[in-house]
Amino acid sequence: MKIDLILGLQWGDEGKGKIVDVLSNIYDIIARFQGGPNAGHTLEFDEIKHVLHTIPSGIFHDKKINVIGNGVVIDPVIFKKEIDTLKNLGIDVSSKLFISRKAHLIFPTHRLIDQASELSKGKKKIGSTLKGIGPTYMDKTGRNGFRVGELEIDGWEDKLDNLISKHERLIKNFNVEIGYNISELKDEFLDALKFLKSLTLIDSENYFYRCLKTNKKILAEGAQGSLLDIDFGTYPYVTSSNTTSAGACTGLGIPPNKIGDVYGVFKAYTTRVGSGPFPTELFDETGERIGKIGHEFGATTGRARRCGWLDLVSLKHSININGVTELIMMKGDVLSGLEKLKVCTKYRYKNEIIEHLPFTIDDSSLEPIYEEIDGWNEEITQINNYQQLPDNFKKYVTFLEKNLELEIKIVSVGPNRKQTIIR
Ligand code: GDP
Ligand code: IMO
Ligand code: MG
Repeated sequence: MKIDLILGLQWGDEGKGKIVDVLSNIYDIIARFQGGPNAGHTLEFDEIKHVLHTIPSGIFHDKKINVIGNGVVIDPVIFKKEIDTLKNLGIDVSSKLFISRKAHLIFPTHRLIDQASELSKGKKKIGSTLKGIGPTYMDKTGRNGFRVGELEIDGWEDKLDNLISKHERLIKNFNVEIGYNISELKDEFLDALKFLKSLTLIDSENYFYRCLKTNKKILAEGAQGSLLDIDFGTYPYVTSSNTTSAGACTGLGIPPNKIGDVYGVFKAYTTRVGSGPFPTELFDETGERIGKIGHEFGATTGRARRCGWLDLVSLKHSININGVTELIMMKGDVLSGLEKLKVCTKYRYKNEIIEHLPFTIDDSSLEPIYEEIDGWNEEITQINNYQQLPDNFKKYVTFLEKNLELEIKIVSVGPNRKQTIIR
């Protein structure tokens, strides 16, 4: 038995949460392997919209186990709120949610460091969600981090106090004004830690080993997108984890030869939230229209997402890095009514035509080269059979499949679970 992956191929918010929820039926276990509450995964069904930040998107299905892997960073305060919201909806989370002892904790002071770091960068800020992600991964790789399992070992309170004091010294060094009340933050944090400790903590690598041996079907849910990967994204305008398929191995403890299908999720256009290069970004009415019809506002921060045409150069980069085996195209419905669609197939870079992402992607030296395709006028959100989709929609899909040399196995035509066409 192998583990399948669902990953975002762009700058996040591709619709991973929706697809994980739709496909959860055919899996026993759904696992998150990286990132933290910088993620916002939206699920819609029974007229309700749910946004998940740390909890895997399989949580609404009965008899499925959801695992938060060692590669994830957990903010206990946000996590507790997320679970309380689910409890209020009648979802019994604790019986079907397991947490790796090796996952690192986001301290309130990590959030403050994030804020101070961004303020000190001025115009060069990353546009972080300010959830403390970067500082927590820095403590992890700097070997100063605090892992969930430490809560089971006596004396953890001293280590916690030492780390908080160290963070406070660091915050002072940034020399920027951020107001905070450490004792209030600490009380809230300790309360949430008590709650976290009451949940099921596991050695997830051993758990997955046993699950694979007993033929359990596992789906790993990526957060963020491949272009936000710490190594292969648009550095430094990235997040602080490996969002790509290799991250699932290190973030869960799964050997590479146990990876099965790799589903790459992309929007029929492109969006980005936060700073950083975006070659196909639109600054005109079409961009505005896509943002409006697509409701392109961040699920975590509410910030407006930048919108642009589909970029096949960066998509191919993501497909190659991840070893994508099947594609899933989201939000095609948002493009209905546009007379012409543009798709970037190459870049002009320093007077050369290139088909890969160069080392430096800055918008002034890189110009997208587009092919134009006829759009479709029909409203498609109620269609549930691929053959009934407008001819020009199907031509768009065929054009992408030919260029990307992969099949698009699922197309999504609306935010609801039901608005999903599996070919
Ligand atoms: P994720 O972070 O990859 O899970 O994606 P987000 O939830 O942040 O953003 C995707 C947004 O698009 C959410 O508001 C979804 O409800 C919505 N969505 C997902 N698929 C579709 C679709 O096919 N069409 C439309 N119109 N909206 C969709
Ligand atoms: P999901 O899982 C979109 C972006 C931020 C910022 C950069 C670094 O919902 O697709 P960080 O908080 O990690 O320090 O921010 O990455 N970013 C996301 N953009 N979707 C996300 O997650 C994101 N998580 C982080 O906007 O530009
Ligand atoms: Mg999102």
